[in-house]
Formats: sequence, C-alpha cells, structure tokens
Amino acid sequence: MSATDIVRRRFDTLVIGAGGGGLRAALQLAQAEASVAVVSKVFPTRSHTVAAQGGLTAALGNVTPDNWHWHMYDTVKGGDYLGDQDAIEYMCRAAGRLVTELEHFGVPFSRLDNGKIYQRRFGGQSQNFGGEQAARTCAAADRTGHAILHTLYQQNIRAKTHFFDEFFAIDLLKDRDGYILGALVLEIATGELLIIEAKTTLLATGGACQLYRTNTNASINTGDGMAMALRAGIALQDMEFIQFHPTGIAGKGMLITEGARGEGGYLVNSKGERFMERYAPHAKELASRDVVSRAIFTEVREGRGCGPDADHVLLKLDHLGAEVVRKRLPGIHAMVQTFLHIDAAKDPIPVYPTAHYIMGGIPTNRFGQVVMSKQGGEDPLPGLYAVGECACVSVHGANRLGGNSLLDLVVFGRAAGNHIIDYFKEMRYHRPFDESSTERALARLARWDQRRGDESVASLRGELQRTMEHYCGVFRLEEVLREGVDKVLELEQRLEHVSLSDHSRVFNTARLQALELENLMDIALATITCALARQESRGAHTRVDYPERDDERWMKHSLYFKEGQRLDYKPVRMTPRTVEPFPPKPRVY
Ligand code: FUM
Repeated sequence: MSATDIVRRRFDTLVIGAGGGGLRAALQLAQAEASVAVVSKVFPTRSHTVAAQGGLTAALGNVTPDNWHWHMYDTVKGGDYLGDQDAIEYMCRAAGRLVTELEHFGVPFSRLDNGKIYQRRFGGQSQNFGGEQAARTCAAADRTGHAILHTLYQQNIRAKTHFFDEFFAIDLLKDRDGYILGALVLEIATGELLIIEAKTTLLATGGACQLYRTNTNASINTGDGMAMALRAGIALQDMEFIQFHPTGIAGKGMLITEGARGEGGYLVNSKGERFMERYAPHAKELASRDVVSRAIFTEVREGRGCGPDADHVLLKLDHLGAEVVRKRLPGIHAMVQTFLHIDAAKDPIPVYPTAHYIMGGIPTNRFGQVVMSKQGGEDPLPGLYAVGECACVSVHGANRLGGNSLLDLVVFGRAAGNHIIDYFKEMRYHRPFDESSTERALARLARWDQRRGDESVASLRGELQRTMEHYCGVFRLEEVLREGVDKVLELEQRLEHVSLSDHSRVFNTARLQALELENLMDIALATITCALARQESRGAHTRVDYPERDDERWMKHSLYFKEGQRLDYKPVRMTPRTVEPFPPKPRVY
C-alpha cells in the first residue's frame, strides 16, 4: 500500500495513549475547544493507570502537618539527587491545587471523619525535611488509579474529545525541518491504516516493565511511545533506572500496594524477624522502594527467605483487623483471595520485588515539550510533547517515590495541555509532512509480512524478559551486564527470523505482538546499555562493583540514541526557581 491510498484525518492535537497523562492533557485541550484525537490501543479505561492502587501525593496536611517544600525535599532525596529540582519544585507546588481539581471533576476520594480527603503514609515521606513520617498520599481506598482514570475519561467524553479506541500507533510522521506532525496508526479491528495529521502530537503511552518476567504492569506496557521516539532520532534519558516495587505477589508479580505498609503492615523473614529494622532503623518498611527491595532481595539471598523454596518474605496485615483491611485495602483483599486463596486480614501475603516503573524516558521540560540537548542547553522539538511514564521530566530522578506517578500524570498532563494551547498561537495551520516518513512507517509494518523464519514472537518475548531479569535486575555487575548486552543484541538479530503465524487483517493480535516485541527490544537495549555505562550506585541502579554514589563523575543524566547505541550525558538541573537547592547528601532512612 502506498501513502496516498491511506485515509487521512486532521486534528489540532493527537494524543497517543489514554492513561492519566494523556487524558489529563486531552481534557485541558478539549475544554479550550481545540480538536483533540486520542488514540489508544485498548479501550481507554483499560489503560494501565487503572491499576494504580495506593494513591497520589500532595501536601494537603489533612492527617499530619505538611507543606509542599517538605514534599519537594523528600522527592529530591528519594530520587537520590538525580531529579531536576526546578521540575520537582513545580510538581510539588502544584499538587494541592490539582487534587482539589480532581475532586471537583468527581474523583471519589476516601474521606476522614471530618470530611476531608483521606491521606495515608507512604515510603520516603517526612515532615520537616527528614523528620517524622508524613501521611501525604491521597487515596480512593486502594483503587485510586481506577477512580482517577474513569473520572478523566468521563470528563473527556463531556468535553467532546475524539477517541480512536483500539488503534495502534506505528510511527511518528514529520517534515524535513523536524516538526512532528502526527502518526500512522492501525485500526486493530479492521487492519485499516489511518494517517492522523496534527499540529502537535503528545506521547502518553506509559511504561515498559513488560521488559521483565515478573512485573506489576499490564501486558500492554511495551514502551511503544519511547520506541517511536527512538526511531524518530530522539534520545531516551536515564533508562538504567528501573524501579522494582518491593511487594509484588511472590512468583506472580502483581502489585500489593505500598498502602498496605502505609496502613501499618510489616515484613518478616523466615525467622519471623521484622528485618527492615536492620536496613532502615527509622523508616523501616516505609523507607524508599529501592531500599526495601534491596533488603528483601538480600534476605532471600542470604537464606532467610520463606516458603518451601525460601524465595520470598511475608507481608503481615493480620494485626490491622478485618475492618481496616476491608475498608482501606479492599482491592488487595479481593486480589489475594482470587490468586492465592488467602484472607489478607488473617494470613500473611508472600511477596517479592517486581518490576514496576521506568524512571527514565523521553526527555521533556516542565511544559511537556520533548527536548533535545544541545551544547549544554535544551531545544524543544517542535510539535512533540510527552507526559507520564513514557516521559522523563525528570521529577523521579533515580528512584520514584510512591504516589508521585499519579501526581506526575495530572501535573504535567495539564501543563502540556496549556503549553500546546499557547503553541497554537504561532502554529496556526497544519504543515505538510514529508511523505518519506510515511513510507518509512509503512515499511516497518510491511516487514512483518515479508519475514520468514522459525522464531516465534512469544518465545522471543519470554527470552527477552528472562534475560533482563537475569542480567539487569535489582543488583548489577559489569561482567553480567556486558554479557546481557550481547544476549539482547542476539535476540534482536533473531527478530529478523520471526514470522507471523497470522497474516490476516481483522483483529490480528499476532501482528500487534510482533510490533510490541520490536518496541520492547529497543527499550531493553537502551536500559542495559545505560546500566552498563553508569559506574556507580544511585537510587534503583545498584552496581555491586561500584557500591557508592559518585556525584563527582555521575551527577548527570544519561542519553541513549538508537543509532549506533550511542550514549551522551547532560547535567542535572540543581536550581529550583523560588527556593534554595537541596545539595546531595548521604541518603539514610
Ligand atoms: O504501591 C502502590 O500503590 C503504587 C503506587 C505507585 O507506584 O505510585
């Protein structure tokens, strides 16, 4: 098929991805009467935001004294000083207002007896710059993402956002000057192609933790937007920083919210010891996630794991009482009943770290504009925006604090929407795009019908996940990472020998899975290449051979380019706009 045969539609903005970030941006635009298309490969309310459990952070001070500046300090420290402090300041300052806005949109937050929004304790939250534990996470029981996503979807329907449900984005389209001007997309139900032309395109495609065998992510989290950016010549930032959530259901990976520990749950090893007292004497189970994950991993490795294979630890909630468990953690109660046939109010839950979140992503500024670094500065790429997990603002640095991802979505989704509205003043007309970019996108698709060989998508995806788990997990080491890079390159070669089991057009999931695998392969290579290069331990990136953080050499963001697997670096922005910077110091909990 040639580009001229494909149906074209025009919108002011194309949003790719219908999770919290995409929907918040779309809403801002639709309410300003821009024409907005949202393309989503699943029905919008099945986007992965729906699975966020514990809540969204904002210093409302409803339960403990709090203010945004303490939140900022915790976020900078939690990220092991790699986060950009101007962006963190912006996010933490905006949080309270945006929670109120969500409430007014209709999000059914849980309530305190005095009617205020319920806030729970989460890891890494402190009062007064590292003092007593704060309670900063605004929750709708343990289904906060579900509540927010459904509310934003309904508000978008009301604002007349145009949805393309179950359409898969193949690649970005651009002109010769580098303006991004839309995308080639595929309607899953029919196999028909569509070109969406747009003055601005916003990527909000979420994360990629399907890179790992054990993960908390929906199977759709395959890094599609990040891979599209790579193919468009954009570098990905800080990809070595993968968050392993401490409490996934052991062996299965599904999330047991940090809210369970926030409500008072605690972890024990096979000796019945509350081992976090040794690793984080002050914060214990509510140390930041990287700390708790390493502790669990170490307990198991040193032979103090539970169960017949001594391969997990136990999360105890029984002392909280059935009422607290049912009221505050109903989703967890139901989930462990379904998958483990146990009662969380009585029985301990077997847990183990599970891949959860990608701190890195497509580099953006705090307006959501995708930026390319140039001689120490940053130039926005005209017409392209990114928000949410696929983006790297960077507010999470080397380790995200729980509850900051839902916040990130609404803060930067809204900011990007506002910036795009301003951008329309200078970009009043659609620019014609370079048809050769459509031809390239078409060629990507066509290759899958031409490939012949005896490799299968499912087995390569499984091998990739096991490779990443083994060679680029919680603890990392030079020789192992080096071997891992070779393994991923080998798997990438083998992609050439995958043939589709189904070449039909209608609802061809085999083709989608092949495209997703191609995306995952690019993200895996970015992740493991950056992990090999960074010779220090910082946040979630733990190098056994370089156990200390090295601010002199490594206080910088990594940038990975697909072409030639090239790496570059750029400085961390250490200067907030209205307050003093937080200089790096040893991180203790
Ligand atoms: O544990 C949780 O509920 C996850 C929250 C988050 O990743 O922000």
